[in-house]
Amino acid sequence: MKVVSSPFLRACRREAADRTPVWLMRQAGRYMPEYRAIRARFGFLELCKDSEAAAEVTLLPVERLGVDAAIIFADILLPVEPMGVGLEFAKGEGPIIHRPVRSAGDLGRLAEVDPLEATPFVFEATRKVRAALGERVPLIGFAGAPFTLASYLIEGGPSRDYLHTKRLMHDDQATWHSLMERLQKVTVGYLNGQISAGAQAVQLFDSWVGILSPNDYREFVLPWTRGTIKGVTAGVPVIHFGTGTAGLLSLMREAGGDVIGLDWRVDLGEAWKRLGYDVAVQGNLDPAVLLAKPTEIRRHVRAILERAAGRPGHIFNLGHGVLPETPVDHVVAMVEMVHDLSRR
Ligand code: CP3
Repeated sequence: MKVVSSPFLRACRREAADRTPVWLMRQAGRYMPEYRAIRARFGFLELCKDSEAAAEVTLLPVERLGVDAAIIFADILLPVEPMGVGLEFAKGEGPIIHRPVRSAGDLGRLAEVDPLEATPFVFEATRKVRAALGERVPLIGFAGAPFTLASYLIEGGPSRDYLHTKRLMHDDQATWHSLMERLQKVTVGYLNGQISAGAQAVQLFDSWVGILSPNDYREFVLPWTRGTIKGVTAGVPVIHFGTGTAGLLSLMREAGGDVIGLDWRVDLGEAWKRLGYDVAVQGNLDPAVLLAKPTEIRRHVRAILERAAGRPGHIFNLGHGVLPETPVDHVVAMVEMVHDLSRR
């Protein structure tokens, strides 16, 4: 079968398929012993920058789990590193930005980057994976949405209440909007670079956007996310994902995307009804369910498939990334369950 008619790409286009496609955010990661073995030889950034090793890691879950799509092994912060913010992945702490952007002066010091030149390793890895996959499964490229990228740049790392971000947004709107404009431009170039290198769909991660009120989302985020999605090469499906977005779904839909990614805090059936059936949805198993015994996993998988009601345009996924504590066997079983319970 040609990859254009694969269940995943059919679902992106809301076409009927013989089963519900499934892949997992963070499907290549620390829960996998094969990943940990490769990771023992490289730092995280080093691994991302070695296109041969990054390609190998991308292919691991395709072989081991039987998922319906590959996602390129990279990180949302790779395209901002060349702006000169001092990115580091410290052990057990997640990303750290040593020179956060909190004022017009900080913004003025950011280097202008052309992502095509700044992150060639991502595009090389994409080309290698695409060649290795052939017509087996489609390859997803991804980027952080401008808001989530801005929140890292401003906070300097993970945050609980995002007060630096909200302060800049409310108190220095001109700087906020110019930062978002810069990030939109970089993100569009970065995504289209992945598409030219062989990515057949892209996911935009607005992981932390759920901390905003609907009004602030509309004013400070929506125009830039919309601009990003509009800038993506025509004809390539865009998955628009965020967490904690129950109150933002209709605005996210307005911002765009062929598929809206849902976290587990919403009922997939109700959310899809609210969004409208003229858009596809992705999700939304609570990643913590994969820690439970397989009979329990099966019950939860079945409930989500029932909410989707066999309607064309559902891509099964978790509501967020796979947890490092997850047993690989449970993930393998979950993928089989989705295929088995959704076969039509
Ligand atoms: O889905 C995949 O398999 C592709 C790989 C992927 C990674 N990061 C690899 C990674 C993807 C899609 C991302 C996206 C990403 N990165 C997001 C959006 C998705 C989400 O989780 O909301 C965010 C917010 C980041 C930033 C980031 N990178 C964080 C917060 C962390 C630390 C937290 C953690 O899980 O360790 C990273 C590091 C990171 N990115 C790891 C992986 C496999 C772990 C690094 C390691 O091996 O130590």
